[in-house]
Amino acid sequence: MSKKVMVSGVKPSGRVHIGNYFGAMKQYVDLQDTHDVFVFIANYHALIGLQDKDQLLKDTLDIAMDYLAIGLDPEKTTLYVQSDVPEVTELTWIFNTLVTVPFMQRAHAYKDAVAKNTEPTVGLFDYPVLMAADILMPSADIVAIGQDQKQHIEYARDIAQKFNNTYGETFKLPEHLILENVAVVPGTDGQKMSKSYNNTIPLFGTRDEITKAVMSIVTNSGGEFPENLFAIHKLFRKEAELKPLYDANKTNFKTLKDTLIEDIDVFVAPMRERRDKIAKDPNKVLKILEAGAKKARTRAQEKMKEVREKVGIL
Ligand code: TRP
Repeated sequence: MSKKVMVSGVKPSGRVHIGNYFGAMKQYVDLQDTHDVFVFIANYHALIGLQDKDQLLKDTLDIAMDYLAIGLDPEKTTLYVQSDVPEVTELTWIFNTLVTVPFMQRAHAYKDAVAKNTEPTVGLFDYPVLMAADILMPSADIVAIGQDQKQHIEYARDIAQKFNNTYGETFKLPEHLILENVAVVPGTDGQKMSKSYNNTIPLFGTRDEITKAVMSIVTNSGGEFPENLFAIHKLFRKEAELKPLYDANKTNFKTLKDTLIEDIDVFVAPMRERRDKIAKDPNKVLKILEAGAKKARTRAQEKMKEVREKVGIL
């Protein structure tokens, strides 16, 4: 029996933190044994918000290294860069000729941009259509995403249906796989961990960086249970083991934090070492991306041939 196809895109966005890891990255590694996994670096999507050549190139390579370091296995997973499969943008255009403006105006990201009184680019407006092409091109059965991306999967399904109704059965309707059991990882200040809140613990941080971040975790001096510390800690150690430790050190936050630093370091050290090793050989990473692109592109070209025939493009 053939495996189900799982597709997901990741935006290159600088230094990854443990919120990214537990919130999304880890699941792709977990799925790669049971699914035919396609993970791509969404550099065309990133271009909407980042107009800096050097930064984009660096972020693209960095995120590839990050995924390899956490255990994404290029023998199992097809890892590639979105722009290396130009058929995706070709398909985006064909979809653009089918979707209506009112339909696109209902997209959250676009509505937010309008509400904030910014002048959205056509790229931002079209973001969900490019994403639909990403997903429908490799005939995804499922798309692993965070809750915030759910509407985009509905767009992809609607667009697939619209195409199928117009030109005949061509695209498979994907299902979303919402990463439910991955709780929102709190940051050092208790808000959701996010680069923009400056409350992160870096995934590939040095011991010193981890120490600094953990020491900044906000605890209440009133002697209440340190919820935030505990919520972060339980990502690294079973709750059953943590409970007695936290009971025995009710107000001794220093001891609890020292334990957390040690637990994070033990967890992160092998990945950090792998990351350092990978970074020393960027050519190897480029080769992996090239091989991934070749595989993804061959598949895309087949699909595109079918699409072109159906719509009447020679
Ligand atoms: N929009 C996604 C995000 O911001 C990234 C993305 C682009 C994606 N194309 C995709 C995710 C296709 C899943 C499938 O996280």
